[in-house]
Amino acid sequence: DYQSVNDIVIFGALGDLSHRKLIPALYQLDVLGLINKGSRIVGVARKTLSVDEFKHFVVDSLDSFVNESIDDVVLARFINRLIYQALDFQAYSTFDQLATLLSNQQNIRVYYFSTPAAIYGDICKGLNHAKLISDVDRVVIEKPIGHSLESSIEINNQVSKYFQEKQTYRIDHYLGKETVLNLLVLRFANSLFTNNWDRNCIDHVQITVAESVGIEGRWGFYDDAGQMRDMVQNHLLQILSLLAMEPPADLSATSVRAEKLKVVKALKPINRENIKEKTVRGQYTDGFLNGVAVSGYVNEKDANAKSNTETFVAIKAEIDNWRWKGVPFYLRTGKRMPKKHSEIVVHFKPQPHNIFQESHSDLPANKLTIRLQPDEGVELQIMNKIPGIASQMLIQENKLDLSFSDTYHNERVVDAYERLMLEILNGNQSLFVSRHEVEAAWVWADSIIAAWQTTNEAPKPYAAGSWGPVSSIALIARDDRQWVE
Ligand code: BG6
Repeated sequence: DYQSVNDIVIFGALGDLSHRKLIPALYQLDVLGLINKGSRIVGVARKTLSVDEFKHFVVDSLDSFVNESIDDVVLARFINRLIYQALDFQAYSTFDQLATLLSNQQNIRVYYFSTPAAIYGDICKGLNHAKLISDVDRVVIEKPIGHSLESSIEINNQVSKYFQEKQTYRIDHYLGKETVLNLLVLRFANSLFTNNWDRNCIDHVQITVAESVGIEGRWGFYDDAGQMRDMVQNHLLQILSLLAMEPPADLSATSVRAEKLKVVKALKPINRENIKEKTVRGQYTDGFLNGVAVSGYVNEKDANAKSNTETFVAIKAEIDNWRWKGVPFYLRTGKRMPKKHSEIVVHFKPQPHNIFQESHSDLPANKLTIRLQPDEGVELQIMNKIPGIASQMLIQENKLDLSFSDTYHNERVVDAYERLMLEILNGNQSLFVSRHEVEAAWVWADSIIAAWQTTNEAPKPYAAGSWGPVSSIALIARDDRQWVE
């Protein structure tokens, strides 16, 4: 029951995620009256800071990242909740100070680890030493959970020594996006889609998550990971799982997570034998975005000029199960692509027979496009008669278009972190990734990464501002298909 959550403790409170996302999200929940009276927000970081300085940091975060004007009454209430504790993650004495701060409370605590995973273990030990973990407390951990299956097991083990799985909330912020959540509604509240969602009706699916940003500012971190670990292992596989899973019995965490896990486990392994045919990795070179010259990956600030890290990945994924056998899911994601553009396109099978030959020798197949971001919406390509008295029936492809901004124009777009933060306060794990899912996703991703390492090929270059290396076009063209742009 969220009413009983009282202390939200953010480790790494002065970091970028906290500044851009967590603090604004908590403020928005406070605006909606969803944070319990008396709840405190405890910022924890290495730096020595006075509470007033922390308050200043928080106000700056709200000024910079809340789009609406700030409500003075809520702001005063929100500021009143703030506490700050400087902490040396390896010194127990500082955890004792935190315990003193949190002491007189018997309430549920949420510990949000917005720090590198390397120190999760130390934080857990410190909290345990200071007797700050009870069975009802919750821990929130951010991706990346590891670098590989092995390291993710290690991290999960460190945390699970102190927090049970039912207390552990693994964030994948894509699961908090409105349009990603809407996949559940589209699929399971519409018989039109529920009943046509399989290998008999669907030819193939494309999932594109393109970003126009480069890597500036966090080059070192990114270079260690690359696009496969940073985006595919988590965000793209989560989208894929929701799209492909069997109908869950209900919306509970147990049901939804079990179905998603089955999809990841059924992914056909990609390995040394089929790596070239099924994947493309790319790296952007100098190019232009909206007419402005931008640097290539290895020419960015702090870059290592010899880096072989991929900033683009395309994969032909297949799910070996009864529903999807033989239906390719083409995934593509990259940095420095022409625009921020994420969408799913479900290509249905074409009509087996065409009685409109006079107008169209080939009838285009129906397509369902789910625009994840920006310009959120759903569109369905259908064939339609062109109105008119012409003796032959003239038809054309047209679309039914549900644009969220036109349809729900009064609704503020809720940020993914607001939704996820609320679910944490409510104690609902449906939108969080289970340990089994993380590990199954690593098994699949590790095999691809290992195969890339054995081929030892440099990533294929693509100019910043383009849709990726030409070989990603070839990947899908080999199957007589093409990317939707
Ligand atoms: C993060 C990745 O998880 O997601 C970033 O680490 C990426 O590299 C970001 O830019 C994209 O998130 P969004 O919400 O902007 O699509």
